[in-house]
This record gives sequence, structure tokens and C-alpha cells, in this order.
Amino acid sequence: MALAMTPPMGWNSWNVGLDSNDYPDFTNLTEKSVLEQARAMVDRGLLAAGYEYFVLDDGYQNARRDYRGRLQGHALRFRNGIPSLVEQVKGLGLKFGIYSVPGSLTCAQQYNDYVADGLGSLDKERIDAEAFAEWGIDYLKYDWCRAHLNDGLLAKETFSKMAVELARTGREIVYSISEYGLFKPHEWAPEFTQMWRTTDDLFANWDSILRTIDLQVDLYPHSRPGAWNDPDMLQIGNHGLTAAENRSHFYVWAILNAPLMIGTDLVRMPESVRELLVNPGVIEVDQDWGGQQGRRVWQGDEAEIWAKPMSDGSLAAALLNRGDRTFTFEVNAESLGRDFSSAVDVPSASDLGISGSATLEVGAHDTMLIRVR
Ligand code: GLA
Repeated sequence: MALAMTPPMGWNSWNVGLDSNDYPDFTNLTEKSVLEQARAMVDRGLLAAGYEYFVLDDGYQNARRDYRGRLQGHALRFRNGIPSLVEQVKGLGLKFGIYSVPGSLTCAQQYNDYVADGLGSLDKERIDAEAFAEWGIDYLKYDWCRAHLNDGLLAKETFSKMAVELARTGREIVYSISEYGLFKPHEWAPEFTQMWRTTDDLFANWDSILRTIDLQVDLYPHSRPGAWNDPDMLQIGNHGLTAAENRSHFYVWAILNAPLMIGTDLVRMPESVRELLVNPGVIEVDQDWGGQQGRRVWQGDEAEIWAKPMSDGSLAAALLNRGDRTFTFEVNAESLGRDFSSAVDVPSASDLGISGSATLEVGAHDTMLIRVR
């Protein structure tokens, strides 16, 4: 099995409409609302750009499991059941991802009594893995949710238990785990998962983006095709981020070879956000494996350069301006870590007409993504 040989790309229901630390209102998560997203994913060109996984996050579950002990969709919001939804979404040409947790309580359940029972997969790993495989699930997001505190579980052993059950089904299911970097996942998750969250939840504000980026600095040696560091799903397009901040978020995630899971409303997102998300040059940087994930190569007070080798021998570099004023980058062998004779602006694919050494201006909270040869 060679799963996730490039960073997985898709859409996830969680960040939609979530722009603060509040949990969303689950009454909005219905068969009708998510099917509308799935259709937009195809109609607005996201699938064609590579976003193939459609992932239903926390909040879809019914208050009780069914008579066989299986998870089921909320009785009123997903009247036709999850298997029928999976079939409809897959009928559009998408792959389907679902959410569960290794402990007894899902994350939203801990703070919100929208369900009666403990809905987690604790001691139900086999039942759940078999149901997922039978429904045709292609991706599982398995989310820790304080299972060490709620259920006294150990992360590595607990996450590997579900990996064994998924493998047992014989179905290829991308296994995406999330423990927010609490237990050094980069040391063990590459053995049996395709992606692991490195950090706590990302929110749609500049501070959260910078804090998350800072925590990625030392993680680059741990990822490789089939096993990716996951700095969390995209907040691009969500209320709270400016156009410059959306760009910075996307370009740095691309340099990090991060999984690209869109978390915005695909039906209502403006055309400008759509254009950013489907930009072929940026997606190519994200999906390309040049032997190492990108890392920070230069750091000033208010600005940084993050760069990654590309498989064709070029170097992709994100010039990130963290500050509130325009910053002038000195781009040269010293700041990039290599000499260059030509450079293109990746998103516009336009030649910058520079070589060896140059200065490039980047606006407040903005990032320029370049590729040098
Ligand atoms: C945690 C995860 C989020 C989301 C919610 C669901 O906070 O980090 O990505 O899955 O749980 O409750």
C-alpha cells in the first residue's frame, strides 16, 4: 500500500463558520448542507485542482449508536444515513473521509452535550473500522480529545490500535491523526499513519497563524512521502483573515508540504479565495517532494524566509512578512542558502528578471512565493 504519497488535499466541515474558540452550531451540519458543499467542490473546480477528500468532522453523529453498536448519522440532520451520504458524495467523483476519536468522548462532546452517549471508538475500534470500510470510507480523522485525561489512554499505543484495525479491513484508508503535538507524534506516527497534527487548533487570525508556523521550525526532518507533518486545516477564506494573510497562510503551508484541507464555505467563498486555493503553481510546490520538507532558512526581526528544495533542482522560497509595515527582503545566496540565476513569482508564474542578488518588497502580513534556479 502506498497511501498519501503526496500531501492529501480536500475539504473538511469543521472550520466552516468557525472563527473563534467557540464550537460551531451543529444544527447547520446536515445532509443538505454538506451535499451542497460537495457539489460546489466539484462545480467550482476544487476537485479538478486536486482537492479530492471530502471529510465530515465532529458533529455528524447521532446521540446513540445503532443496534449493532455502530456509529450513525444524527437522526434528524442525516435522515438518510451516512452510507447514503457517502454514496452520493462519491458519486460526484470525490473520496469520503469521516471523523472519530480513540477515547470515549469526542472533542465537541466534552464541552457540549449534543449527544447522550460516549460516542468515541474506545473498545469499538473493530466495529468502527469495519463499518467505515463497508461504507467505502477513504480517510479517517482520528482525534485525541484529551483521551489521556478522560480515559487514561496512552497516545502511541492507542493510535496504533486503530491502525491495526484499519489494515485488517483490507481497505486503503488514509489515517490522519490529531493529538496536537502533545506526545511528540513525529517520533512514532510516521510508522503507521499518513499524517499527524503537529500543533493545537489553528484559528482564523494572524496570531494563530504565526504561532502555528513558529512551532513547525524543527519538524522538517520527520516528514516524507506517505507520512506528513500536519500544521492543521486551512482557515483560508474565513472571517478574520485578510487577503494578504490568506496568501501567507497558503504559501507557507505549501513550503511545509502540508496536507491542504480547505475549511471554508465552498458555496459562498468569493472568487478571489477560490482562485488562490486552486493556484497551480502553489499547489505544485506543496505536492512536490524534493527530498525534504521546507524549513526556515533566514530570520529577521519581523520577517523570515522559508524554503524547500524542488525535485527539478530549483528552490521554492516563501518571503514571509510578519510585521505591520512593508518589508524589503534581500534575496541572495546568503539569505536563501543558495545562489540563483533566475527567479519566478510562483502564483503568477511571471519571471522576476532578477539573478544573484535582489531586493523584493512584501506588504504587511503578506508573503511572496518565489522559485529560483
Ligand atoms: C479538535 C480538533 C478539530 C476538530 C474538533 C472537533 O478541536 O483539533 O480539528 O476536529 O476537535 O470537535
